[in-house]
Amino acid sequence: MKQKSKINNLTLNLEKVYLKKSKKLLFHGWHHIVFVKNKAIVFAKSINANLFFVESAALVHDLNYIVKVNSEPEEANSYRNNILIKSGYSDEEIIKIENIIMEAHTAIRNQNISNEGKSLSDADTLFKSLPITPILFTNNYIKQNKIDIQKLANKITSEQNKLLDEGIYFYTDLAKTKYLNWAKTNLALWNNVKESLEDKSISEMLKIAENLKVL
Ligand SMILES: [Fe+2]
Repeated sequence: MKQKSKINNLTLNLEKVYLKKSKKLLFHGWHHIVFVKNKAIVFAKSINANLFFVESAALVHDLNYIVKVNSEPEEANSYRNNILIKSGYSDEEIIKIENIIMEAHTAIRNQNISNEGKSLSDADTLFKSLPITPILFTNNYIKQNKIDIQKLANKITSEQNKLLDEGIYFYTDLAKTKYLNWAKTNLALWNNVKESLEDKSISEMLKIAENLKVL
């Protein structure tokens, strides 16, 4: 089977799954997957990464959220395997895709990842740092993953400040040039959110709002 046909099969199979779950996947839904796939291809072209593997990995990188709420990529290992086999992928290709997903994972990614991992990571990270994301999607993330804003602020600041310090918030020059300012502004906002939650009047106000069900 041609690579193009495998991607087409995979896209159709995934779209069906995602559309069924669209009310639950408020943050990591099909809108996120299509955005990450499109941007990953752009970043991949800029560094000569393998487009077939980047596109395939981007399409299946968040299947863990289909399997389990607030989960890690490895928890969808067998689900990913099944949907890739069903779409015509070989065992060898599936192993490569799994490796790209794991090395691009925000919580553990480092300096030494493949160009395919860099392309996926930059696209996935870009979604988080878009100026519209805190306004439109952060509340969706909180609802989808059933966590509170304190936990989310801790997660974002503990994972992302060090990536910025190490110079690998983005890997590709294209992402750095076009989007690093957005990323810095976004992370500054999250550092402020974390600091603001230490103010007792703010945390008390949030509790009242939760009790009133306005949040
Ligand atoms: Fe993602």
